[in-house]
Amino acid sequence: MNYAIYPSLKGRRVVVTGGGSGIGAGVVEAFVQQQAQVDFLDIDGDASRALVDRLGDGARYHPCDLTDLSRLSQTLSSIGDVDVLVNNAANDDRHTLAEITPDYWEQGTAVNLRHLLFATQAVAPGMKARGGGAVINFGSISWHLGLENLVTYETAKAGIEGMTRALARELGGDNIRVTCVVPGNVETPRQKQWYTPEEEQRILDSQALKQRLQPEHLARLVLFLAADDGALCTGHNYWMDAGWR
Ligand SMILES: NC(=O)c1ccc[n+]([C@@H]2O[C@H](COP(=O)([O-])OP(=O)(O)OC[C@H]3O[C@@H](n4cnc5c(N)ncnc54)[C@H](O)[C@@H]3O)[C@@H](O)[C@H]2O)c1
Repeated sequence: MNYAIYPSLKGRRVVVTGGGSGIGAGVVEAFVQQQAQVDFLDIDGDASRALVDRLGDGARYHPCDLTDLSRLSQTLSSIGDVDVLVNNAANDDRHTLAEITPDYWEQGTAVNLRHLLFATQAVAPGMKARGGGAVINFGSISWHLGLENLVTYETAKAGIEGMTRALARELGGDNIRVTCVVPGNVETPRQKQWYTPEEEQRILDSQALKQRLQPEHLARLVLFLAADDGALCTGHNYWMDAGWR
């Protein structure tokens, strides 16, 4: 692929949550290729350190459980003011309605919804001081399709779209843009473990385009939304699902 270089991203300060693996790692790598300064937060130390080893100086890893809000706050304040926040981390463990306890519900919303709000709250003053910024949230096609055994995750993902609209309005006066990327089915190491060859074929049959989405495809959309090229994009969802129906 002959991908774009965005001059406006060179030297920009970027934070990515859940940047150690999957789509987040693709986003970290894409920003490093643009010569941005990338800090990423994750709980998976092995994957995160392997990514830093591969990418070199452009990316810094911060061990942080995003469900621990005081740790999140300390980590973001140690990073300092940033231009871009990518709220990517989530956990789509399967569960039936009957299995959900109050604790499971709290944990599910903590890992899939709550940290996006508090990370945005933490970085917004610094973005304002730098003249503006971009917050890019990760939603999901799952709740639009009404997939089974994911009600906690899907409720959180639906909430992220509402949060995106509300925060875009609240922060727009400070030139902070808030958008939501809605991926289709992306072939990450974690997703691969669940799919048989028949299910892989079902995914391709559901897509208009007969090619599996990779983390790098989503990363290209994130770059556009973070760059000056996306300067008037805010408050909306940006889908990349290879034309799912
Ligand atoms: N892969 C897909 O098909 C797909 C589809 C729709 C939406 N999405 C969304 O895209 C985003 C990335 O998905 P992915 O498939 O790359 O996920 P993934 O599970 O492969 O990676 C998530 C990353 O977040 C980290 N993480 C999880 N819980 C954490 C916590 N408590 N604290 C810190 N880090 C934590 C993990 O260690 C991992 O590195 C998510 O928001 C997901 O909901 C993915």
